[in-house]
Amino acid sequence: MTSPREHDARITVIQRELFDERKSKSQRYADLVIGQPGWWALLKYEAIILVCWGMPGALGLLLRSRLYPLLLGSCGRDVVFGTGVVLRHPHKIHIADRVVVDDGCCLDAKGTDNQGIRLGRGVFLGRNTILSCKNGDIVIEDEANIGFNTEIFSASRVRVGRKVLIAAYTYLVGGDHLYDRIDLPVLDQGRTAAGIDVGDHVWLGAHVVVTDGSRVGRDAIIGAGAVVVGEIPEFAIAVGTPARVVRDRRTPTDAGGRPPESAAPESDTSARSPSDKSDGYTL
Ligand SMILES: CC(C)(COP(=O)(O)OP(=O)(O)OC[C@H]1O[C@@H](n2cnc3c(N)ncnc32)[C@H](O)[C@@H]1OP(=O)(O)O)[C@@H](O)C(=O)NCCC(=O)NCCS
Repeated sequence: MTSPREHDARITVIQRELFDERKSKSQRYADLVIGQPGWWALLKYEAIILVCWGMPGALGLLLRSRLYPLLLGSCGRDVVFGTGVVLRHPHKIHIADRVVVDDGCCLDAKGTDNQGIRLGRGVFLGRNTILSCKNGDIVIEDEANIGFNTEIFSASRVRVGRKVLIAAYTYLVGGDHLYDRIDLPVLDQGRTAAGIDVGDHVWLGAHVVVTDGSRVGRDAIIGAGAVVVGEIPEFAIAVGTPARVVRDRRTPTDAGGRPPESAAPESDTSARSPSDKSDGYTL
């Protein structure tokens, strides 16, 4: 039997924050969007967003590349921001050189004591991608390529390794709900988060879901539509719901792409929970 998980009080509930009557409206806005106290931070944010958030064409690109770095924790050279990019708690967003943040992306580094979002050199974020922190951290390593309409949520730590390819409509769910009680809606039972790690060079196919606490080993491939629960070994090809390993990429295949009978990978090929592992791996 699994032991009951504890609610993590650091994972905030947006509606409660939005309508917290102990705070003024401007305080609530500052807490949720700006993340820093004082009028200067608020005015700077409002002025920059007003001027260039939705401005089309080359002038918009130019203005955003010059002005958004003034809001960010750090920003390298040749960074491109499309139109309608939402930045929350921007002082906790760190972007290296040659990053593309396409139209409609949301970079939300919200949290009270988190480090926020870090995008490595050459990262590409496809249109409408959401990176959403709830007091968690998101690290996207160098040259990772994230397809459009992807969501990465983190209430603890989610890492996407170097040169990872993530196809469109993928969801990395770096947090979970408690559901042990049946007398309360899940919505009212609190939150937990163990984090997610996606190793270097991994390819996640379209519509993949990676659940909280999962780890995808380096150079693995996850087939389109799979749901990853637990651990996928490095160099594995895994498909389905839950994702199960169908092949090891290091195993030689015959002309039809199938492993010869004698070379088939041995042992249990299903994804395993990190807690099942004896090497003490924790996220
Ligand atoms: C997983 C994938 C890479 C193929 O890997 P592969 O090792 O060549 O797999 P095969 O085609 O030999 O299929 C192996 C088995 O897995 C099944 N399979 C393959 N892809 C699958 C998928 N996405 N979901 C469920 N089953 C799948 C096959 O039907 C086959 O089953 P069988 O042995 O019962 O016949 C590919 O199918 C895939 O999903 N690619 C992702 C495409 C994508 O999302 N592109 C977005 C652009 S970035």
